[in-house]
Amino acid sequence: MSSPLSILVLHGPNLNLLGKREPDIYGALSLEEIDGLLSKEASSLEVKLESLQSNYEGALVEAIHHALGFYQGIIINAGAYTHTSIAIRDALLGVNIPTVEVHLSNIYRREEFRHHSYIAPIAIGQISGFGIQSYILGLQALVWHLKK
Ligand code: DQA
Repeated sequence: MSSPLSILVLHGPNLNLLGKREPDIYGALSLEEIDGLLSKEASSLEVKLESLQSNYEGALVEAIHHALGFYQGIIINAGAYTHTSIAIRDALLGVNIPTVEVHLSNIYRREEFRHHSYIAPIAIGQISGFGIQSYILGLQALVWHLKK
């Protein structure tokens, strides 16, 4: 039997404040609760899942580097780094691990500076605007992509 797929979930800056942070935009669930729901979905999809949150761009870049050889797919909500970080985009390109970009809010209905993503053009796809469901749908889509 082949070993199960391993997926890395990366949460960027300020997502540790979920639950307290602008709940009208980002919802009432804490990051822990989101990770818990993702783990449940991962078990039902029979994949392994680990997640990491960092407020530091370099830590996210290093986590992407270290993913090589350990994870077959990445789900990333890079938070505000989505709109600024060429370094995170280059890291994802460098390791060439299939990636799905997710956002809790619909970034295209918000301020113009959130409309551009450095990650979207190099991701398999992007899911934005469905709250926690963005992560769940992102995981389902990534697993479907990896298994097809
Ligand atoms: C976010 C959207 C970003 O614009 C913002 O900076 C975040 C969260 C989202 O999940 O909706 O921190 O990525």
